[in-house]
Amino acid sequence: MTEWAPVITIDGPTASGKGTVAHRVATALGFGVLDSGALYRLTALSVLRNHIDPEDAQAVARIAESLQVVFHAQGILLEGQEVSEDIRQEQVGNLASHIAPNPSLRAALLARQRAFRIMPGLVADGRDMGTVVFEDASLKIFLVADVEARAQRRCKQLIEKGISANLADLLRDMRERDARDINRAVAPLVAAPDAYTVDSSNLTIEQTVQSILDLWSAVGSQ
Ligand code: DC
Repeated sequence: MTEWAPVITIDGPTASGKGTVAHRVATALGFGVLDSGALYRLTALSVLRNHIDPEDAQAVARIAESLQVVFHAQGILLEGQEVSEDIRQEQVGNLASHIAPNPSLRAALLARQRAFRIMPGLVADGRDMGTVVFEDASLKIFLVADVEARAQRRCKQLIEKGISANLADLLRDMRERDARDINRAVAPLVAAPDAYTVDSSNLTIEQTVQSILDLWSAVGSQ
């Protein structure tokens, strides 16, 4: 039965390393992965491409409901077109953060996210995985890192991909996005009361992954 598949949730601010860490934890355990931010980014990309008014809550929710998305090992297809790189653009991430407080949009994405919960298990990363979408998760992680450390990581990633990046701009955008994600009324970025906070500011990806796997052995897999 799908509802019994174990879930590990990893919530945290933008560029905290959630995505990479979630994939590595999932690979180690043989679990599937849900990158819930990608669903918000895909909606934002679709809003841009279809010239929808981001302030029109119902139109944005309708876009989310009708998204034709295929997640596959090498990437993400939106309406049959590869968009993995497009959804990572800062403009798309910022719009995703702008439209994310819309309750109709969040409701439209709920069933889509829960459908990822299949055996043998799921690692779900986002903002509200442990507080809303998978409230009964077996292990909840709140992954944090200093905003400076996150901006530096994002800057390095963009430059490695050949995309021009400015640390001061990234830092400003990241602070604004954090504030929006934390202060919104609906499903804000907050640690679930039963979440374990992991601070990755001074940890490598391997150390972060290991600390989550250790927690899973100690408490999650019971
Ligand atoms: O994790 P990310 O940077 O890819 O997410 C992009 C935006 O999507 C983020 O700023 C807020 C929104 N989001 C959300 O509201 N809830 C989630 N579970 C995941 C992302």
